[in-house]
Amino acid sequence: MRRMIAGNWKMNMLTAGAAQLAGSLRRGADGLGCDLLVCPPATLIAAVSHILAGSPCQVGGQDCHAEPSGAHTGDIAAPMLRDAGATYVILGHSERRADHGETDATVQAKVHAATKAGLIPIVCVGETLAEREAGAAQSVVTDQLAGSLPTGFAGLVAYEPIWAIGTGRIPTHADITAMHAAIRQRVGPGIRILYGGSVKPDNAAAVLALPEVGGALVGGASLDAASFLAIAAACPA
Ligand code: PGA
Repeated sequence: MRRMIAGNWKMNMLTAGAAQLAGSLRRGADGLGCDLLVCPPATLIAAVSHILAGSPCQVGGQDCHAEPSGAHTGDIAAPMLRDAGATYVILGHSERRADHGETDATVQAKVHAATKAGLIPIVCVGETLAEREAGAAQSVVTDQLAGSLPTGFAGLVAYEPIWAIGTGRIPTHADITAMHAAIRQRVGPGIRILYGGSVKPDNAAAVLALPEVGGALVGGASLDAASFLAIAAACPA
C-alpha cells in the first residue's frame, strides 16, 4: 500500500512562514514514492492550498465540528475546511482529546461530518505512559477504535502513543509492530495505519519499513521542509 506522510503543524506558523514552507514542499513533492499531506492551522488552509494547487501535496484540517453549520462560536465546520481547499482532516488527536475533552463519541460524530463534507478523516488513537506501563495499551487503543470509528469507516487511523508525542521517545519496533497488527485486526484490510510520535528523519526509514505501518503523522519535524521531505523520502518503494 502506498504510504502517506502527513504533517500536523498544530498551532504554529504565520502567513509568511507558511508560504515559505508550502513553497519548499511544492518544489520537493514531485516524484516521491508516497502521498504527502500538510495540516496547517485553519487560518492558513486557503493560502497553503493555493500555493500547493496542482502539486501532489494535499492539504488537511486539524479538527472539525460535528455540525455542518450553526451557532458554535469559534468552531470550524467540515464544509468550511473543504471550501478552503482541504481534502483531509485529523480527528481525535490526543491534544484535542486532552484540551477539549473530546470523547470517542465526539470523534465518531466528527468522522460522520467530515465524510459527509467530502473530507477523508484521519482518526488518532493512542495510550498514555501509565496505560502502557499497566499493560493496557492494546485494550485502550482497541476501545478507542471501537468508539471512534463508525461502521464502514473509510479513512486512515493514526496510532500515536501520547508519551511519544513531542518527546523524542518512540516505542520499540516490536511494540509498534504489535500495536499496528492489533489495529489491523480491528479495522480490516484497506485502511492505512499511520504511526505518529517523534518521527524524525533519522528514525523514519526503520519505522516506515515495519509491517502494517502505512505512513507517518509528523508534528515537530513537519515544520521544516527539509526534515519533512527527508521523512517522505525514507518511505520504502
Ligand atoms: P511529534 O507530533 O512528531 O512532534 O511528536 C506528532 C503528532 O502529535 O501528530
